[in-house]
Amino acid sequence: MHLTRKAIAERIKDIDVVIELLDARLPGSSANPMLADMTAGKPSLKVLNKQDLADPERTEMWLSHFNGMPGVRALALDASMVAPARELVSACHLLAPNRGGMAKPMRVLICGIPNVGKSTLINTLKGKRAAKTGDEAGVTKIEQRITIADDFYLYDTPGVLWPRIIVAKTGYNLAASGAIGRNAFNEEEVALELLDYLRRQYPSALEARFKLTGVADKTDEQLLDAIGRKRGALQGGARVNLQKAAEIVIHEFRGASLGRLTLETPHEFLEWRAVGEKLDAERQLKKDAIEHARLVRLKKVPRPPRAGARDSESSD
Ligand code: G4P
Repeated sequence: MHLTRKAIAERIKDIDVVIELLDARLPGSSANPMLADMTAGKPSLKVLNKQDLADPERTEMWLSHFNGMPGVRALALDASMVAPARELVSACHLLAPNRGGMAKPMRVLICGIPNVGKSTLINTLKGKRAAKTGDEAGVTKIEQRITIADDFYLYDTPGVLWPRIIVAKTGYNLAASGAIGRNAFNEEEVALELLDYLRRQYPSALEARFKLTGVADKTDEQLLDAIGRKRGALQGGARVNLQKAAEIVIHEFRGASLGRLTLETPHEFLEWRAVGEKLDAERQLKKDAIEHARLVRLKKVPRPPRAGARDSESSD
């Protein structure tokens, strides 16, 4: 991560537009807040990738959300598009109209969290296998420059840009999408969270896929149990193997067997983020207080006056 940060920091001054690849099923949770800080002030193109897996209505909502932000444009893509370059190039020219031509080539940095489809897109843009797809998370690659046109260069970020999980919900959505390695989360917990969202937002998708009725009235646990039973994920005593049932739910969501679903709207995400930022600020205050107490103990900063001390001083 440190290397990736360093590489982005070094490259960013010569960059005209930053392309951030987002997962169209979770455009808020798959954004990296650290990237926003590092690239502040640069025109930004948000690419909602894997749109083939996402709810088209919600993709439209996200596109208008991003397109309403100053210095930001957004478009949706997926790997089935044989020539995505034209759309990317024209969006970048709209964002940086003063760049173009051999004297002032457009320089674009492309970033995205693991598994968002960056290598696949780069391969398509390049027309041959430039970046290995399905790369092992954490393997640092050398930054590469891809020439899209004589006056259009695309710089790939080396290393891995991990998502920063600011609130539990974004972590669950990232895990459900496949952005987080298998050993880093509890499948049952993730499946229950996923079912909790889907039974409220997409009940008919669940009913159709798992041949169930009344899913909106079931608890998440009842639903996971019912899915396990339908699929024969049983263990001793005809009990449901919840781990197996959870894997089925996650796998079928990822493969869009449940249909094209999106796990967050802009409005929902902004609410979650506000909660996350509040918790973050509270955590930081606690950390600062602990650090201050440590420095007081080491006599590196003066001990704060005791409550009431100031009052008695001023009344003298
Ligand atoms: P990354 O470089 O951002 O880490 O992602 P990468 O391109 O390796 O893609 C991660 C997975 O997502 C790959 O599947 C890839 O095929 C798939 N993918 C990429 N773009 C799209 C898209 O637009 N739509 C859909 N549905 N899938 C996409 P994989 O199962 O990990 O590997 P493989 O089976 O393709 O080898």
